[in-house]
Amino acid sequence: MALVNMRDMLYHGYENSYAVGAFDLVSLDFLEAVIDAAERCRAPVILSIAEPHFAHYDFELMMPAVEAAAKRASVPVAIQLDHGSSLESATKAIKLGCNGVMLDASNMSLPDNINATKTVVEMAHRCGVPVVGELGYVAGVEGEGAKQHPGETELTIPAEARAYVERTGVDFLAVSIGTVQGRMKGRAKLDFPRLKQLNQAINIPLVIHGGTGLNEDQFRRLPSLGVAKINYFTGLSDVAAKTMREQVKTNREGSFTDLKQGVKQAIGEEVERCMRQWGSAGRAAEVLAQCEPWATVEHVIIYNVERMSDEQAHTMMAKGRSILAKIPGVREVFTGEAVKEGAKYRFCWLVRFTHKSVIDSYRDHPDHVAFADNLFRPFVGDRISIDYQDNAAATSGCRVLVNQASVSV
Ligand code: 13P
Repeated sequence: MALVNMRDMLYHGYENSYAVGAFDLVSLDFLEAVIDAAERCRAPVILSIAEPHFAHYDFELMMPAVEAAAKRASVPVAIQLDHGSSLESATKAIKLGCNGVMLDASNMSLPDNINATKTVVEMAHRCGVPVVGELGYVAGVEGEGAKQHPGETELTIPAEARAYVERTGVDFLAVSIGTVQGRMKGRAKLDFPRLKQLNQAINIPLVIHGGTGLNEDQFRRLPSLGVAKINYFTGLSDVAAKTMREQVKTNREGSFTDLKQGVKQAIGEEVERCMRQWGSAGRAAEVLAQCEPWATVEHVIIYNVERMSDEQAHTMMAKGRSILAKIPGVREVFTGEAVKEGAKYRFCWLVRFTHKSVIDSYRDHPDHVAFADNLFRPFVGDRISIDYQDNAAATSGCRVLVNQASVSV
């Protein structure tokens, strides 16, 4: 279990002048290659799921695999929604297990970008999840990423960045300093003086989108000027496609799995190269020791009903499942009935929260308050309610959890 708080992870990079790679995944090959490379390099890593790629896979099916890989890893891992387009997609991403979200409203006017981002920050922070905002515009030139980012690049203006960070409360800022989404044409000219001013103006970890195509010297300079996260995709997609083209040359009749041979290795080598150049290689142990382990909380209620028929109780539970599951930070709602007749408590709720921050925000959420006051508490007698934090992380080498169990009956 090496899922860690992405905020802590990126602050470690920011304070120690290295950048963590956020690698967009479009298949299990990418997922396995990225995580294996992180293990080989002993590097913290961000498994990144980009909304513009949802055309290539089912987000709901992909997330359990990503989360399983993160939990199985021995290096620190965070999972982010990349280029989220709305409050709805950010909320869904948190429900599915992302512990970092990026809202990309960089194509909007400054006031609209601020409003949209602020709304996402308020929701995500109630779930304990940090947010990346973007100001300025990183356009595409050529290749996959380019199609999703049309138009002209707009460099980030430091005074605007300061206002944006103050007014939105974002944890990290993606800035535009000359990189492009997709393939680079020629050598990118990065505006390092601007990056320095941005770092001084806002003093929070900076993010670079469009990592593909930068050279080693540029990669090494970025972290010294506040960049703690670099997003990378096209470089991985291109080495994967090149490997498949080479397979076709030697095996024209090859099956899908024949043609895929070598793809994982090629992606892994590219990820490793990035991790070594960005300085994240070899940092896993420090990050594990210093970051909060990301642990879910199980909100457990066992109870009996009064003044209510079995049918009414089942209707109440069905309503609860539908209403409560939509509250931000709730990952799952289970309603159960004791298997054994005559059990001391006949019914239960198991509501899984993404993080302990949700204990308070769930309790105070108007939909929870209305459900509990009108449909639940008036019909419930004897009950026990306890919040339990997953303590598997305590045995993973992560900073040890403080016991957060709380009782309210
Ligand atoms: P590249 O595809 O240019 O590496 O950029 C990836 C990216 O910024 C994803 O957010």
